[in-house]
Amino acid sequence: MPVITCIDDLKRLYKRRAPKMFYDYCESGSWTEQTFAENTSDFSKLRLRQRVAVDMTNRSIATTMAGQDVAMPVALAPVGLTGMQRADGEIKAARAAESFGVPFTLSTMSICSIEDVAAHTRKPFWFQLYTMKDQDYLKRLIQRAKDAKCSALVITLDLQVLGQRHMDLKNGLSAPPKLTAKSLADLATRWSWGLEMLGTKRRDMGNVVGHVKGVTDPSSLMAWTAEQFDPQLDWSKIAQIKEMWGGKVILKGILDPEDAKMAAKVGCDAIVVSNHGGRQLDGALSSIRMLDPILQAVGGETEVFLDSGIRSGQDVLKAMAMGASGTMIGRAFVYGLGAMGEEGVRKALEVLAKEMDVSMALCGHRDINEVGRDVLMIPEDFSGRWAA
Ligand code: GLV
Repeated sequence: MPVITCIDDLKRLYKRRAPKMFYDYCESGSWTEQTFAENTSDFSKLRLRQRVAVDMTNRSIATTMAGQDVAMPVALAPVGLTGMQRADGEIKAARAAESFGVPFTLSTMSICSIEDVAAHTRKPFWFQLYTMKDQDYLKRLIQRAKDAKCSALVITLDLQVLGQRHMDLKNGLSAPPKLTAKSLADLATRWSWGLEMLGTKRRDMGNVVGHVKGVTDPSSLMAWTAEQFDPQLDWSKIAQIKEMWGGKVILKGILDPEDAKMAAKVGCDAIVVSNHGGRQLDGALSSIRMLDPILQAVGGETEVFLDSGIRSGQDVLKAMAMGASGTMIGRAFVYGLGAMGEEGVRKALEVLAKEMDVSMALCGHRDINEVGRDVLMIPEDFSGRWAA
């Protein structure tokens, strides 16, 4: 058993164990990958203030997110095709999140279906919704999430059309993978992945296959998005979906203060400052840079979570210190899943928790809820001075 000390260790193992097509899917940003890269590099521009000679006993990183108790302010973000990174991936990740005490969000584009994840977990999870042109399907999907007792609906707003990730086109990404000479040569070297995959029935998009009429190629994310996603989504449709759902709503993919104000006006339990992990609009600023202007714009009217770029507990601490009330991780848990299955996801969560706890202590704090800007050193032009 390798000694895992950081998220990067999990990433190295994941790269060795998962098929290249799915590793590349996870590890790509759109076009030049500028935004993808800056999501992480901008975190390192923020510095932490070391404090000494303060009582560091009885520390706590527990808090609440959207009214739910969490062991730490980190929820698992919705990630498409998670069940291709490892057989039954969504069930494994959901179980790890449940045992650790943090929320799991199931993607519309998951491999394991809503019902399947509900049947293999004990606590309610969050469901992420992509808005579809097919209103019948959309309504049924929302009803299915209600029937599965999902405790929040996470509506993704930044993927009405798909940003291009070059490697997905080059690799011919599909779920399950199409068997070509190239993919077979790669799969031959990932035998443990293949054996586990042969042992499961869950190899298609579980929320789609058998549930949607007229989708010609549900194996391809690109085709599915182009055919089904609603390019006409607007705030009034979001209000309608909120009404249909009737429960907690989290609006994900907000990167601009004006949109944040609109989201607060429509009414939601939280917004997620996110650029979809740098996978959509290349050239947009990183989430951590946009956090402060967005916090100022919403002025406490809704909870603000941050996603995109978190790879360490220090990153979570920085986002919380800046004023976020929680964070979401995508790649950081997928690395764990691809490396070591359910245990790997738990390991990723443990790594983040430990890093956050010890770093918080070294900043002179004992409770994550009391950590404020005093622990941060923010470069003067961090959010940028941009001509209007
Ligand atoms: C879908 O959510 C993607 O980013 O590929």
